[in-house]
Amino acid sequence: MEIPLIGLGTWLLQGKECEKVVKMAIDIGYRHIDTAFAYENHKEVGKAIKGWDREKLFLTTKLGIGFSQVDDASVERSVEKACDLALKELDTDYIDLFLIHWPDRKRPLEEILAALHKMVEKGKVCNPGVSNYTEHHLQDAYDVGLQVPFNQVELHPYLNQEKLRVFCDKHGTKLIAFRPFGKGLLLREESLFDEIGKGYGKTGAQVILRWITEKGIPVIVKGSSRMHLSENFNCLDFDLTPQDLDQINLLNKDFRYCSKEWSEFDY
Ligand SMILES: NC(=O)c1ccc[n+]([C@@H]2O[C@H](COP(=O)([O-])OP(=O)(O)OC[C@H]3O[C@@H](n4cnc5c(N)ncnc54)[C@H](OP(=O)(O)O)[C@@H]3O)[C@@H](O)[C@H]2O)c1
Repeated sequence: MEIPLIGLGTWLLQGKECEKVVKMAIDIGYRHIDTAFAYENHKEVGKAIKGWDREKLFLTTKLGIGFSQVDDASVERSVEKACDLALKELDTDYIDLFLIHWPDRKRPLEEILAALHKMVEKGKVCNPGVSNYTEHHLQDAYDVGLQVPFNQVELHPYLNQEKLRVFCDKHGTKLIAFRPFGKGLLLREESLFDEIGKGYGKTGAQVILRWITEKGIPVIVKGSSRMHLSENFNCLDFDLTPQDLDQINLLNKDFRYCSKEWSEFDY
């Protein structure tokens, strides 16, 4: 299944609220749900997708930050154990996209990625991938002959990731954007998106999502109300002009909303 352009982020959604929001999102039309061991909501996501045609849904989850599920002594065995646990918690037969959540250099990253590829051979995962990888981390994987179909990274107008995108394109790795609104802060800090949106009868939020999706990059966005979920989902029925795109591109300042500790992970 091709990855849907608009995906639902579930970070901070837990318990009954998570189940309710995921159900509401699917009802609105979302077909991509993004979760992770770290979000502690696998079971609720699993409950929410029950009864829907599984083949029409695209489910992403991620191995824990710090890879607490991975025992260095037997990487392949522990990745499979983590995969089986995710399948059990999500109550599903396969995961569409299973990502290494963060490039923790203290862990055998290439072995973990190779083990994720094995999960594809076993039919438990459709696509292996990584998240928060820089060019260096990706190059290490390419150097040992591993394909990296997807890299989920923070991407928004303050962090356009153009250099990484060009590098990934060259190597057949597709970027997926997360945190498009900088946890909501970007929408409050910058008025340009609302100004551009007025010309189309769209909101600033929709303008940001269109700026990302017009590049062909799928995006993971979190919303908890029906209003936000619908607004974000309905962002593909207009096109920004080259002038709009240029104005937004000028905002880039390589700024991350992810915490400093998390974002300084390169060599
Ligand atoms: N791979 C990784 O390491 C990683 C890291 C961070 C995030 N992610 C994924 O990416 C997803 C999205 O990132 P995020 O949740 O950090 O932040 P985000 O999607 O950039 O922003 C979410 C915030 O924006 C608000 N919002 C949503 N739609 C809005 C709208 N139309 N108008 C105004 N405000 C709106 C939400 O409020 P309400 O909740 O009130 O609707 C929420 O406070 C996460 O949920 C997670 O799935 C992945």
